[in-house]
Amino acid sequence: GAARTAVPGKVPDDLLKVGDLDPAVLAAVLDLAAEMKAEPLGRQDDLRGASIGCIFEKPSTRTQVSLAVAAHRLGMQALVLHKDSMQLGHGETVADTGRVLSSYVDAITVRTFEHATVEQLADAATVPVVNALSNTHHPCQSLADLLALREHFGALAGLRTAFVGDGTSNTCHSFLSACAASGMHLTIASPAGYEPTEDVLGDAREAMARTGGSVSLVPEPAEAVRGAQAVYAEVWVPMDKPGEKDLRARDLTRYRVDDALLDRAGPDAVAMHCLPAVRGQEITSEVLDGPRSLVWRQAANRLPTAQAVLHTLITAGRRSPN
Ligand code: CP
Repeated sequence: GAARTAVPGKVPDDLLKVGDLDPAVLAAVLDLAAEMKAEPLGRQDDLRGASIGCIFEKPSTRTQVSLAVAAHRLGMQALVLHKDSMQLGHGETVADTGRVLSSYVDAITVRTFEHATVEQLADAATVPVVNALSNTHHPCQSLADLLALREHFGALAGLRTAFVGDGTSNTCHSFLSACAASGMHLTIASPAGYEPTEDVLGDAREAMARTGGSVSLVPEPAEAVRGAQAVYAEVWVPMDKPGEKDLRARDLTRYRVDDALLDRAGPDAVAMHCLPAVRGQEITSEVLDGPRSLVWRQAANRLPTAQAVLHTLITAGRRSPN
């Protein structure tokens, strides 16, 4: 079998956002994911008999399935818990839910709306909590993105990337934090009013001062992609803002990643998207299905990165039980 990867440094209790992982731990999680991709069942004995509870307040394909299969590959069982099937959907607090679930499972993942809900769950739980998407952060996606970029380009530090569209999205926020932790350069093109929040930008700039990365904001997609090696597109209407469909279609109409925009990027540029995509809106089918698409590799990498995150947090252990 492959050499076993050790995770150095301080493993956080929980993974609520990419910035919870210091750069050395993040790199080690990616190494572990690569090991698990090469040998999917190589760690099956480490967590045999353990369980995870996966709470979903929103729909999911990639996250739901990758977490369940990741748990299975680590010798664990995953309980997929849709909110309405739980007392959580009928008035029980998230804190009480987290405290009780901690008596049964070895980690909790949660997909929800407000990021504060993830924080409340983590505060109350005595087992690791993994953010499986909140309105402001999507760290599990970013780990898969980083693994895909590292596989494609060989290294992350110094890569020039661009994000085109809704800079307020959880995907953009997390990709920005991932670029910061990995020493990558990111230019974000978004219309006025769709820039990343100041606190996410501030945290990223602070990390970039140490890692050598950079972030800049521009209004024009063509300007953002000039010289970029990777161009990230994201849905225009997030799950929590269905009422803004028409407004966003108007505001973001020039922020589509198509072949013409990709041609303006560097000669080796790849296109990224976290999926699900609205084909023909934020990204064209020609790009998604074309030779410059990294999208399917990003999606595939959700599985080994989920394995690596669960393994890292659960084996690091934490907190005294109830
Ligand atoms: N990218 C992502 O999180 O996909 P799902 O919504 O299908 O989980």
